[in-house]
Amino acid sequence: MEVTRRESLVLGAGLAMGAAAQAAVPGTGLGESLNRAARRGGRRFGAAIGMGRPGHVEGAFADPQYRRIIASECGLIVPENELKWGWVRRSPTGFDFSGADRLLAWAEAHGLALRGHNLVWHHPKWWPDWVTNYDFGARPAAEAARLLGEHIETVCRRYGTRIRSYDVVNEAVAAETGAMRETVFSRAMGSADDVLDLAFRTARRAAPHAQLVYNDYMSWEPGNETHRTGVLRLLERMRKRGTPVDALGVQSHIGSGNNVGDPSVFGPHDERAWRRFLDEVTGMGYDLLITEFDVNDRGIEGDIATRDRAVADYARAYLDLMLSYRQLGDVLAWGITDNYSWLQQRPPRRDGLPKRPTPYDSEYRPKPLRTAMAAAFRGAVPRRA
Ligand code: G3I
Repeated sequence: MEVTRRESLVLGAGLAMGAAAQAAVPGTGLGESLNRAARRGGRRFGAAIGMGRPGHVEGAFADPQYRRIIASECGLIVPENELKWGWVRRSPTGFDFSGADRLLAWAEAHGLALRGHNLVWHHPKWWPDWVTNYDFGARPAAEAARLLGEHIETVCRRYGTRIRSYDVVNEAVAAETGAMRETVFSRAMGSADDVLDLAFRTARRAAPHAQLVYNDYMSWEPGNETHRTGVLRLLERMRKRGTPVDALGVQSHIGSGNNVGDPSVFGPHDERAWRRFLDEVTGMGYDLLITEFDVNDRGIEGDIATRDRAVADYARAYLDLMLSYRQLGDVLAWGITDNYSWLQQRPPRRDGLPKRPTPYDSEYRPKPLRTAMAAAFRGAVPRRA
């Protein structure tokens, strides 16, 4: 999608220059953009943006107001779905880069970087049907390695240095057991660890300039202990084998719906456990990113102001903790306005009202969450040089 004339007038000529437009958020009365606030600590702020479905431009990317907020608040974007196998590899014979190409062109026109999400979603649910039913033939390990390698090389080579950070593998650890998930690829290759090794080594060869990230949703909340332990063991094994992984992507879908604002459910004990987890990760030499931040307010009762306050306070505590790590780099939100949040498609609130998980409401007004994020960025420990 091209920038419309109206949009470019609203944003002003400076927008095409990217950084120049990051100082203020046009039309909102807000001074400093979230990216500018993050830049104070040497980080960037970004957000996910999605196009709907292959061959169509709908949803967030079709909405000029959404694009306007992204362009003014962010230093980078991440395609919500357009680089996943479910979009790029809908058939065994071809690659469809139409969505990612369009997002990247738009990002570059606005001076924004683009992260790649993801090269391998190591979860049985998210492969296209043709992969799930694939005949790996007489030498399954070799065929699986060929198919995965071809995919990763094709994506990385297509975008070259235009993409400098990839979620190479997403969600390989089963949250309930802490064990590695099994997929058609792990069964064909013998083990999930072999799949991850191949993925990271191929990505390093094909995109030597890029930051390579293992991305997962283990969280700071109670109930995540097993998941965290599984991720730690995986990171340890990868270090031992010399698998080229640079960082842990902490998705940060926080607020599991019943703990926000309730100290009897979530408290200092959980924060300490989370710090121990992050200390172990960084102690192994991994950097950190926040890749998919949002706050699920499904379980918070009260009027809108009460809910927004609880979300903002909870987010502030989380971000303050995360931003105390010098190893923490970029921070990305999984959507920036409530109306396009994936959480609206998930189990509803008891009162049936839309959720309010992102920094802007559905009328594109900044919320207390945005204020909390900006304040957390301004108070952050600077990123390790
Ligand atoms: O393309 C179809 C469209 O034809 C149909 O009309 C519509 C009806 O529901 O669905 C459309 O596809 C949906 C697609 O999003 C685009 O909207 C899929 O059903 C839906 O499963 C898909 O959901 C995405 C999900 O990942 C699975 O890929 C969400 O948008 C996306 O926010 C979510 O993102 C994940 C991260 O990748 C990994 N971490 C967790 C995060 C949240 O689940």
